[in-house]
Formats: sequence, structure tokens, C-alpha cells
Amino acid sequence: MEKYTSRVIPLSELPKWSRWPARLLNLVEWKVPTRDVAKVDEEYDKNVYLHCVEYFHSHPGATADDVRAQEFRLPRPPVCVSRKNVLYEMPSEHLMTVDNEMLIDLLRPYMKDVDTVIELGCGYGYNLYVLRKEFPGKTYIGGEYSQNAVSLAAELYKGAADLRIEQFNYYDDTYTMFEKLPKTAKVLLFTRHSIEQLPSAKKFVETVMKYADRLVTVLHMEVAFENNGDDLLGMLRKRYVTANDYNRDIVGLLTGRTDIEIVRNDPDEYGENPLNPSSVIVWQPRISVVRS
Ligand SMILES: C[S@@+](CC[C@H](N)C(=O)[O-])C[C@H]1O[C@@H](n2cnc3c(N)ncnc32)[C@H](O)[C@@H]1O
Repeated sequence: MEKYTSRVIPLSELPKWSRWPARLLNLVEWKVPTRDVAKVDEEYDKNVYLHCVEYFHSHPGATADDVRAQEFRLPRPPVCVSRKNVLYEMPSEHLMTVDNEMLIDLLRPYMKDVDTVIELGCGYGYNLYVLRKEFPGKTYIGGEYSQNAVSLAAELYKGAADLRIEQFNYYDDTYTMFEKLPKTAKVLLFTRHSIEQLPSAKKFVETVMKYADRLVTVLHMEVAFENNGDDLLGMLRKRYVTANDYNRDIVGLLTGRTDIEIVRNDPDEYGENPLNPSSVIVWQPRISVVRS
């Protein structure tokens, strides 16, 4: 990623790049939302994805890449991103390339052992569309709460037998896409900044472990409150999580289970928003414990 950046940005300059430091320090008004499904509906279904649908319908022939560029508000001025707790300036034209390369490189080591790739909270399935191009010959399934995103995906990937996006809610007691899979399916499950939308990851961890026999590997690119240190950047990031009512327990929930083995847990692999970077957490069910 560093090869796409133009310079290191000192933390003291962050307020020039982001409105968040002022909000987090209570220098401007900020109302902490309650992150329930009504909030998700308002922020994603009726806003982000509604705009994507409108863009798609007003640009005949638009591809998933075109929709993503619109979602990323491209082109725009250079942005401040982070990697491994260092802030960088990056021209916005590289945002999608970095995002997609990160996804492909992170998942590559786990692809060869699986026949099915599932993303939960996948929006209109853009990440799956990118992975399908890079790793053909597998079944790609997405689960998403927003009806607008699910409908857009149906139009974008019409005729693609190996890629489908289904209506899904993290709060469900069972996950239908897993119920429909054969018991022999070998699944790589990933999430990218969607478990952050749950104030607690507890329900997700409990529900997904019902399908432990099908899960080969689970990879999260998620905010991880517990991975932040007590330096200034770490403190700002913790406040960012609480100011958005994002989850603060995913690391503890996973490490606290004897039927889960943590393969890696790395803070700030990449932050498109440097106050909300992706930690990469990879885990596998300990099948001997699950089956005993
Ligand atoms: C920040 S977006 C990330 C989307 C996608 N993973 C990506 O990388 O582009 C968060 C996503 O989580 C979805 N989401 C939030 N709460 C959800 C829930 N309860 N069930 C399913 N999806 C949910 C939102 O609708 C949105 O698509």
C-alpha cells in the first residue's frame, strides 16, 4: 500500500484531513447514535445504497466497478489513510486499487482449501465480485440487510450462476445461506466493516458457530476496539468506536472460546479512514472441540 502514498502525515495534522478529531474531543456537536437496524436502514438502505441504485439506473451499462467508484465518491481530493499506525497522504485515484489488492492478498492464503466464499454484511457484493474475478471456480454468496443493495446486486450480476446476494440479518437465529449448504461444503467466511455495525458481536459469534462443521476459515477486516493502544492515536480510535456505537467486544469474544483457534490478529492492516482502520482477525473452529 505504501507505494501508492505520497508522504507521511503527522498525527497533529489529522484535523486538516478529518472532521472526526473535533467531534471526538467535543469541540463540535456530535450525537452518538444507537446502532440498531433502524440506524442501518437509514444510513445504508435509504442513503448509501439508494444512491448506488439511482446512479446505476441513470447510467446505462454501468458496471459494479463504476458503482463502487460512485460509492467511494471518486474522483475527490487526496485522502489521509493509515497502515500499521502510520498516517499517509494518498491520491484518491488509488483508493479502489488499494482496497481491492488488500482484499485479494489477505484472502489468497485461505482460498485453496475452500469451495464456497461467503461475505456477511456485503452491501451489493462488490468484494465478492472482485474475488470471483481473481479466484474463479468457487461459489460466492453474500448476505446483506439492505433491500436496495440486494436488488442492485441482482441487476449487476444477472446471469452469474456462481455469485448471489441474499437478504440476511446478523440478528437472525439461523443463517439461511449456511442452512442451504451441503454439510460437506468447505467455506471461507469473511466480513469487512459490517460487524462494526453491531454494538456487540456476541450474537454473530454464537450463531455462526452453529455452522462450525462447514467453516474452514473465518477472516474479519473489522474495527477492533480492543486492539487499540493507549497512545493518542489509539485513544482517538477507541473514542471513534464509542462515538459510532460500533462493537467493542469481537476480540474478547473470539479469544474467550475454547472451540475457536485464533490464527492471526493484526491491528491497522489498512485504514481508509485512519480512525476506523481494519484489524485483520483470522480464526478457525477447533473441530475436535466442536464435535465432542
Ligand atoms: C460499512 S458497510 C460495508 C459493506 C461491505 N462489507 C463493503 O466492504 O463494502 C456495512 C454493511 O453492513 C450492513 N449491515 C449492517 N447491519 C446489518 C445487519 N444487522 N445484518 C446484515 N447486514 C448489516 C450494512 O447494510 C452495510 O452493507
